[in-house]
Amino acid sequence: MKNLFDLTGKVAIVTGSSRGIGKASAEALAAHGAKVVISSRKQEACDEVAAAINAEHGDGTAIAIAASISDKAALERLVVETRAAFGRIDILVCNAASNPYYGPLAGIEDDQFRKILDNNVLSNHWLIQQVAPEMCERKDGAIIIVSSIGGLRGSPVIGAYNVSKAADFQLARNYAVEYGPDNVRVNCIAPGLIRTDFARALWEDPEREKQTNRSTPLRRIGEPHEIAGAVVYLASPAAAFMTGQAMVIDGGVTI
Ligand SMILES: NC(=O)c1ccc[n+]([C@@H]2O[C@H](COP(=O)([O-])OP(=O)(O)OC[C@H]3O[C@@H](n4cnc5c(N)ncnc54)[C@H](OP(=O)(O)O)[C@@H]3O)[C@@H](O)[C@H]2O)c1
Repeated sequence: MKNLFDLTGKVAIVTGSSRGIGKASAEALAAHGAKVVISSRKQEACDEVAAAINAEHGDGTAIAIAASISDKAALERLVVETRAAFGRIDILVCNAASNPYYGPLAGIEDDQFRKILDNNVLSNHWLIQQVAPEMCERKDGAIIIVSSIGGLRGSPVIGAYNVSKAADFQLARNYAVEYGPDNVRVNCIAPGLIRTDFARALWEDPEREKQTNRSTPLRRIGEPHEIAGAVVYLASPAAAFMTGQAMVIDGGVTI
């Protein structure tokens, strides 16, 4: 094998790839030879990311298809349109998620809790259900769920989000058992604090960032491209014997 990380000929869907970790991951997958589908709720934002990737890696490397992870029909369209454009799906990166509630879990409304579970767990299950059959048929596929170190811990503020991220670890383990015999691998990445819009409140204030840095062995927060490398790894032949796992990438915070 020439290059353990070569993704030439592979097609990847990355949800939430208009910015942040998803965008960095789509760029890194394209840099390693994959064709990528950029997706988020906003078509224009996705168009911009796809255009930049095409400018760098050649026309036809990226396309943009808007889809909300809250909308099952939209996710079905995302899969159908990807197949129409690229003919196949080899890599699925379930990266988009949301957290509409901050506060003690004891105070959350049912509809807020459901929304978090729907967006962060059920939508991943929907996408996996849709793409896995063709992967199983080819006896080759990689599914990556971007979870969080929140799924390993309790929190007085983001408890429901953490429940959803813990469920993602189990979703990966379970699908890894179901699809392993067909050589479809399912893994999670659990990032710590990464400099994106999603976590802006936690790093925008320099004092707060300093505090976080003090309790982080690597003494800094992460950047989106530092998660993208793990996405490439898990998607590639380098991770051929890895399934059902959660890779923690957090500068050492959880150790
Ligand atoms: N940043 C961190 O510190 C951190 C830590 C641990 C885990 N994570 C996880 O990393 C993943 C990516 O987060 P990020 O930090 O990269 O966030 P981000 O920079 O805010 O990007 C979020 C992406 O998801 C899209 N998105 C949001 N809601 C969506 C929906 N309902 N349907 C479809 N797309 C949606 C956004 O685009 P639109 O607004 O256009 O839809 C955007 O492309 C999430 O699963 C998050 O839980 C992040």
